Amino acid sequence: GNTATGTAHGKLILAGEHAVVYGQPAIALPFDHVKIETAVIQKQGPLSIDCRFYKGALDKAPERLHGIRACVKEILRTLKKPAENLAIKLESTIPIGRGLGSSAAVAVAIVRGLYAFFEKQLTKMELERFVQIAENFAHGNPSGIDMMAVISNDPIWFEKGKAARPLPFSLPFYLVVADSGRVHNTAMAVGSIREKSGSDPKTVESAINRLGEIVHEAGRALIEKDGLHLGRLFNEAHAQLSVLGVSDEGLNALCAAARSAGALGAKLTGAGRGGCIISLAESRKKALAVAQALQNAGAAQVWQFSLEG
Ligand code: MEV
Repeated sequence: GNTATGTAHGKLILAGEHAVVYGQPAIALPFDHVKIETAVIQKQGPLSIDCRFYKGALDKAPERLHGIRACVKEILRTLKKPAENLAIKLESTIPIGRGLGSSAAVAVAIVRGLYAFFEKQLTKMELERFVQIAENFAHGNPSGIDMMAVISNDPIWFEKGKAARPLPFSLPFYLVVADSGRVHNTAMAVGSIREKSGSDPKTVESAINRLGEIVHEAGRALIEKDGLHLGRLFNEAHAQLSVLGVSDEGLNALCAAARSAGALGAKLTGAGRGGCIISLAESRKKALAVAQALQNAGAAQVWQFSLEG
């Protein structure tokens, strides 16, 4: 047709960020309170894009769109379509650079939009290959967890280099997510741990191993519906991530606010050093109190939802 759309939701890492880069498992959830929609429109002229920070020819786009450009060109090459007379327009409620999977979601929505536009069947393998191109530009050498969680409609158990495993669970508790409002740089946060592992390998190794154990325990807590245990694991994961140097005062303050308001636990989610935190509450009433406390502590945006699936 003359126009088609593609959508993608955000993601949240429940446990295992950073350690997942070193081969430990991680648990991630689709986060559909934030979304991206792409419209692909037939339009005379150069291949163009219209997003939150740039509108114009894709060939003249700033560096942060170079991954998307490479991804789009590879799709058109694969489909044997000319790289012109197309306009790609993005509408997004996923804040950029906050650990919610914005970069992976942009790529996923664009791939789906282009395949819908050309009325082609998209396999999961092709989708992953195209999104990986964009993600490599955005994050250097990502584990792939963002892409997998953005593609999945279920929670996932993820290990680098392996197929993501659906991990459906139903927990009668609430998750409260708060955005610090501060942008982070995933490649830099990942790089800082790499550097620390050069100067202080013992500390880094033991934190990474403990984070891996925490993910195994969290997986069991989800199945056993043990929210108290999961909350304690959130706190411990946050402490280990702090040892690795990826938390900061702002994230610590949000976690402390959530805990004082009655959260069972709180941790940073995603790469850290900005971005978001997640916290666990035992009832809707507690979740509202925690959300209010996070707002009062200066969070830019707060979401809360039941983990009952
Ligand atoms: C970012 O959402 C998760 C990190 O573990 C990086 C990665 O896995 O590529 C920090």
